[in-house]
Amino acid sequence: MAAANDLLTRAPARQSSECAEAAYREIGDALRCGEVIDAMGMLGNVARRWRVQNAAMIAANMRGAQRQAIILSTARGFRLSVQLAVFGGGTLLVLEQAANFGTLLASSIILARALSPLEQLLDRWRHWNAAAHAIQRIAATLGDPARLQRSLMPQPRPCTRLSLDNVSFVPPGASRPTVKGVSFDVGSGEFVCIAGAAASGKTTLLQLMTGLWQPTAGFVTLDGHDTHSWSRDDFGHHVGYLPQSIQLFGESVRTTISRMSEGDPYATVKAAKLAGIHHVIGRLPNGYDSTLDKLTGGQRQQIGIARAFYGDPALILLDEPDSNLDGRALNTLITTLKWLKERGRMIIVTSHRQEMLRSADRVILLDNGAIAKIAVPAPPPAADLAPPLPEPAPS
Ligand SMILES: Nc1ncnc2c1ncn2[C@@H]1O[C@H](COP(=O)(O)OP(=O)(O)OP(=O)(O)O)[C@@H](O)[C@H]1O
Ligand SMILES: [Mg+2]
Repeated sequence: MAAANDLLTRAPARQSSECAEAAYREIGDALRCGEVIDAMGMLGNVARRWRVQNAAMIAANMRGAQRQAIILSTARGFRLSVQLAVFGGGTLLVLEQAANFGTLLASSIILARALSPLEQLLDRWRHWNAAAHAIQRIAATLGDPARLQRSLMPQPRPCTRLSLDNVSFVPPGASRPTVKGVSFDVGSGEFVCIAGAAASGKTTLLQLMTGLWQPTAGFVTLDGHDTHSWSRDDFGHHVGYLPQSIQLFGESVRTTISRMSEGDPYATVKAAKLAGIHHVIGRLPNGYDSTLDKLTGGQRQQIGIARAFYGDPALILLDEPDSNLDGRALNTLITTLKWLKERGRMIIVTSHRQEMLRSADRVILLDNGAIAKIAVPAPPPAADLAPPLPEPAPS
């Protein structure tokens, strides 16, 4: 009966959890995109889609529950008949004086105790199934657990070299590499720009440098240590990263910049000054304790840059940090990057903006995941070297 139960309830349980997952995911996405939904009147469509998914989940749940209820009642009836038969047979034996009353009682108790775990197993089968399915999904999402194991040994502050040695990468589930045989080094005090057309692999390359992915072939090392296997807590102290999608979170500007820690206020202000956003934060209603919802696109990007600068990391990786910046903010960022470069930081930035590309020591041009060209830009005209800096240079 346990086997029949498994056969009949496995499919509905799986269907129900898939529908629930899809419905929660869509509602989560919708909550994050309230502005778009309201502006373009998409609420009705979103609600309709949620109702369909929710109805499918309830239907699958009901189907599984009904089948399980039938099997459970049959099992219960079967157990009662077995107990009755044992008791009846035992009574007959007692009457014929082939057994005594104690034996009858003991057999009846043993039988009840032996059958009850099986019945409980049937009752809990659905939960076992759901748990097994969830474990499978987690394993599929995280991939090979061995990949997640990281070295726990803290490393000294890296300061000399980030090396990419013949790095190729095929994203999970993809069939073709998005990064192909990339090799270059970035040393202390170097500012490198990565350029290339859309989908040429700039973001993926930066993600490989952060150790987010393990290269399919080749190595990404920081001072000789593999960035992927580096303990995340320790690696984070040495790296400042701005993703292309910015991804700000935190209850206030302060917690966001200080990477969700209590944060050293001086370090937070220093990072904000470096990103050229300190004077803007100062004018918010609650200063550094203001929430993020009143910030403009450019200001959000500058807060993301400040988060990357927080804690004075040795390696700075910025993915299109200038996509929302006006000319003045861009000049401030370039000045800061040069200032950091002079102090020995390793800086790698992806960008399409000419001003940024001209300021770098080297520009690596990607084409379809491979290096097409490495150029050394001509130094910018003298006027460009003295941009207006709204913040005093940090000490
Ligand atoms: N997780 C992933 N799974 C499968 N393919 C991916 C994944 N991430 C990126 N890709 C693919 O890798 C290629 C490179 O993407 P990437 O985001 O690195 O490009 P990009 O140069 O940063 O583009 P853009 O200038 O638009 O930001 C694209 O074809 C993209 O579809
Ligand atoms: Mg990109």
